Amino acid sequence: MSKLPTKLKIAKRRSKIHGNGVIATDTIRKGEFIVEYKGRIITHDEADKQYHGDVGSGHTFLFTLNDDWIIDANVRGTIARWINTSCEPNAVAFIHSEDKKNPDPKKDRVIIEALRTIKPGEEITYDYGFEFEVPYTKKLVEAWACKCGSSKCRGTMLGGKKFKAFEKAHPNWRK
Ligand SMILES: C[S@@+](CC[C@H](N)C(=O)[O-])C[C@H]1O[C@@H](n2cnc3c(N)ncnc32)[C@H](O)[C@@H]1O
Ligand SMILES: [Zn+2]
Repeated sequence: MSKLPTKLKIAKRRSKIHGNGVIATDTIRKGEFIVEYKGRIITHDEADKQYHGDVGSGHTFLFTLNDDWIIDANVRGTIARWINTSCEPNAVAFIHSEDKKNPDPKKDRVIIEALRTIKPGEEITYDYGFEFEVPYTKKLVEAWACKCGSSKCRGTMLGGKKFKAFEKAHPNWRK
């Protein structure tokens, strides 16, 4: 991943959003690669066995890489594991496949990239948009309540089609 910086422009700090977060220590330009999200690579089955409690807890260090693999940042996790989510993020987590012709999904990599210029002191965020393979209930959506503080906050760290369907069926879920 040639565009990854040799010296990171970020540091781990206490966050206004939740627990620990990651802030910029230098100006980061739009499109710049910030950091790679790394950790032990495990299967979905292994993740389910080891972290079955995560889904109801609202807290996780797992990142779904693709249909086969999960990055478990509890083990050998980089500083990227401290990045919080926002519904109005300044960064995005892109999944890169190295060999487009002969892809090995285990070798996919997650790079956090700036969506706009980020000034020193600003907290780095991307939108987790979690999707879980369990029935969506108010309890589940509330367990994953989002505290990003944006006026555009959708109220939950869940996203994607499953959350959209839940919202359609329960338009007043936040009340
Ligand atoms: C990868 S960790 C990020 C580091 C986390 N702040 C910590 O100190 O452990 C992901 C977890 O942080 C929390 N978190 C991240 N962004 C959040 C947000 N916008 N609102 C509420 N909790 C958040 C949730 O518990 C989430 O599962
Ligand atoms: Zn939010």
